[in-house]
Amino acid sequence: MQQTLKAIVDNCIKELGTCNDLSALNTIKVKVLGKNGELTQVLRGMKDIAPDERPKAGKLINEAREQIEKEIDQKENVLNELELQKRLENERVDITLPSAKVSHGALHPQTIVRNKIIDIFTSMGYSVEDGPEIETEYYNFEALNIPDDHPSKDMQDTFFITDSMRYNIILRSQTSNTQIRVMEKTKPPIKMINPGRVYRCDDIDATHSPMFHQIEGLVVDKGINMSDLNGTLGAFVKELFGSKARTRLRPSFFPFTEPSVEADATCPFCDNKGCRVCKGTGWIEILGAGMVNPKVLTNCGIDSDVFTGFAFGMGVDRITNIFYGITDCRIPFENDIRFLKQFR
Ligand code: PHE
Repeated sequence: MQQTLKAIVDNCIKELGTCNDLSALNTIKVKVLGKNGELTQVLRGMKDIAPDERPKAGKLINEAREQIEKEIDQKENVLNELELQKRLENERVDITLPSAKVSHGALHPQTIVRNKIIDIFTSMGYSVEDGPEIETEYYNFEALNIPDDHPSKDMQDTFFITDSMRYNIILRSQTSNTQIRVMEKTKPPIKMINPGRVYRCDDIDATHSPMFHQIEGLVVDKGINMSDLNGTLGAFVKELFGSKARTRLRPSFFPFTEPSVEADATCPFCDNKGCRVCKGTGWIEILGAGMVNPKVLTNCGIDSDVFTGFAFGMGVDRITNIFYGITDCRIPFENDIRFLKQFR
């Protein structure tokens, strides 16, 4: 038996010497120490040994096992170390290599300008409201003091979805519908803006688009007057175009405001001196505004003897184009990456 054990140990050591990966090591382990392994077989042979010889035989077997286990453990450590080295070698990162190019997206210029306008008004305490783009004639016109036969309805050519006798469904031609919806459900004080898309039957050219964006503002409270409007627009224009910018108001007409004005800002390109952008006038028109017509307040259930308000509405597309010197309103919608890339 002693010889058999020595042969097993020697053979095992020999095999370990040529083994060079962990799975081969495992095969050796099973072959010698496994359930039907060589050493286990010897152990099973114990029953054929005379009882008084058994302790000695047991001791020999245990010594052989310990030696084999020690050899296998050592080999395992060596192989583990090797494996780790190999992995580190394979996964080596060369931090001096140029990095993979990740292209960043960018906000559309109109989104940038819209966000800027929203920031200016929310910093003055305005809430941001939303209203439907598909609207009834009532909210787009009638509640805003634009009756069916009123000539001002011709000012805004409208897309009709249904064409019945009354209260047709239309695509809103202005964001003012949201004024009405908010005033109907909110008691003053009201201080809101509402950005959104509007639609008008226009042929597309450099200055017209059948879909464009407006931001409208509305303030209703006790004692609101024209100087509040003037001050608000002045502050807005300074925030938008810089502290040197000034505003002027010209008389205008809107059915839902009385009196109505058109607001101009000093041209940011020439500082009011006159240039190509402002067509030599030194001013650029930025929005329409006025004191909310008392009839509109009454339509929404607000007592016009107690409350007054002002409203203003601007085209975001127009302001974006002025801001970035874009000369054709079709360009921002063409999705030309060469154009969009400039606004990172
Ligand atoms: N809704 C008007 C338009 O689209 C703009 C406006 C809004 C004017 C609010 C005055 C007050 O032309």
